[in-house]
Amino acid sequence: MSQQTQHDRQREPPLPPKRTGLPLVGSAVRFARDPYAFYESVADNGDVVRFSMGSYDMVAVLHPDGVEQVLVEEFERFRKPDDAGGVDVLSDGLLLTDGERWQAQRSRLQPMFYRERIETYAETMGSYAAAAADEWAAEGSVALSEATSTYTLRVLGKTLFGVNTDDHREAVRAGAEAIRERSSRNPVSLDLPDWLPTPGNRRYRRGVTRLEGVVDDLLDERRDSPDGDDLLSLLLAATDGEGEGTGPTESEIRSQLMTFLFAGHETSATALTWALYELGRKPEVARRLREEVDDVVTGPHATLADIPDLAYTEQVLRETLRRYPPAAAVFREADEDVTVGGYRVPEDSYVVLPQFHVHTDDRWWDEPLQFDPSRWDGIDEPPGDRPEYAYFPFGGGPRHCIGMRFARMELKLALATVARRCRVTHDHDDVAVDVGSTVAPGETVRATIERRE
Ligand code: HEM
Repeated sequence: MSQQTQHDRQREPPLPPKRTGLPLVGSAVRFARDPYAFYESVADNGDVVRFSMGSYDMVAVLHPDGVEQVLVEEFERFRKPDDAGGVDVLSDGLLLTDGERWQAQRSRLQPMFYRERIETYAETMGSYAAAAADEWAAEGSVALSEATSTYTLRVLGKTLFGVNTDDHREAVRAGAEAIRERSSRNPVSLDLPDWLPTPGNRRYRRGVTRLEGVVDDLLDERRDSPDGDDLLSLLLAATDGEGEGTGPTESEIRSQLMTFLFAGHETSATALTWALYELGRKPEVARRLREEVDDVVTGPHATLADIPDLAYTEQVLRETLRRYPPAAAVFREADEDVTVGGYRVPEDSYVVLPQFHVHTDDRWWDEPLQFDPSRWDGIDEPPGDRPEYAYFPFGGGPRHCIGMRFARMELKLALATVARRCRVTHDHDDVAVDVGSTVAPGETVRATIERRE
């Protein structure tokens, strides 16, 4: 091999094998068929691998050190992808903005997520979980995804927007579904323009229009009584002159509300669904959890004071977020040429950090596809005895999930309260994992819910 060729091979990420026939379509089809197997075949080529999806050229970073470099150490050399996954209605919100605009938004919104602030939501999270558990038990059987998203949306509405979301539930769900479908659509269809009246584009517009209707209602409701102490008031107050021209615009407020309605309930609901699914099929895990909550939770629902003693509940939660990371993957674009894991990642490369692959890589995890909360026995903080970014359900670095504390507290209180009040069983086995913009169950999981005495 000539010196030049050897040099190039060191610098360009390797290609996956068999890029013959229809290589551009091939990857997308293989991904749609089985995302886990697809990434395993990508990983056979190394820890930094270039592959194609539709006309997109992507670079997968599969080693925790590379993940850390992209998200943390060299965070400023990567931006959020320019096309916002085609989800235009979120493009002015915190999830998708960049640079100084993102920085200004993050600083403005961060106070809503300080620990002391989040702790004031514990009562709502716990009492709403008790009410949800009782409703589910009264119904006798529920579709888990629907039941959990009703719960997380109620909590979000009450804590961050100061409103009752029950009237808006269907519209928010339709909007969230439209966004989810759009951001996880088959990459081949990414090549079709958004204005084409394809069935997918029409579904997206319909769903988003309903979500916009909810946002208008929330804004109208709160403009009439603007003195609340929540996220909505914070955003509105900054436009009333206090922002001195640097506050959010009307379009930003709308985009921000949609961002939080979407990012704030869908992810947590997915995690809670998977946790209850696993409790319903693993009697040993359910028994250990019940023993803990029967000992710790003495009131009608789990409380802030109970949290330090809910060690096994915490393990169940960690394992759920490992095995079924709700965000599925994190995406960036290289702002300049960057060297990752010894390879040159050219400027503008679309970089993918697939959590669902890294979290099930057998270099870091024994029997990775097994749901086993006891793997966290005796470990104070993730990741335990492995590289730090072998586990990153909430991303990492300056753009880590702003709702992380909120979600972790909500999920812990909900799990402990539900386990205290009822028993969840079902006869679904080995439910397929649907990897899109979230890691969702590939079928409706209907569970039987019995009230515990
Ligand atoms: C289990 C639940 C959740 C998971 C697994 C999760 C996961 C994530 C991940 C991985 C990111 C980073 C994305 C990136 O770097 O590109 C993120 C960002 C974000 N999350 Fe979450 N999230 C959850 C719950 C929430 C909640 C409850 C909220 C709001 C109350 C929220 C709001 C956001 C926002 C606004 C961002 C963008 C932050 C920024 O870029 O500054 N998330 N989330």
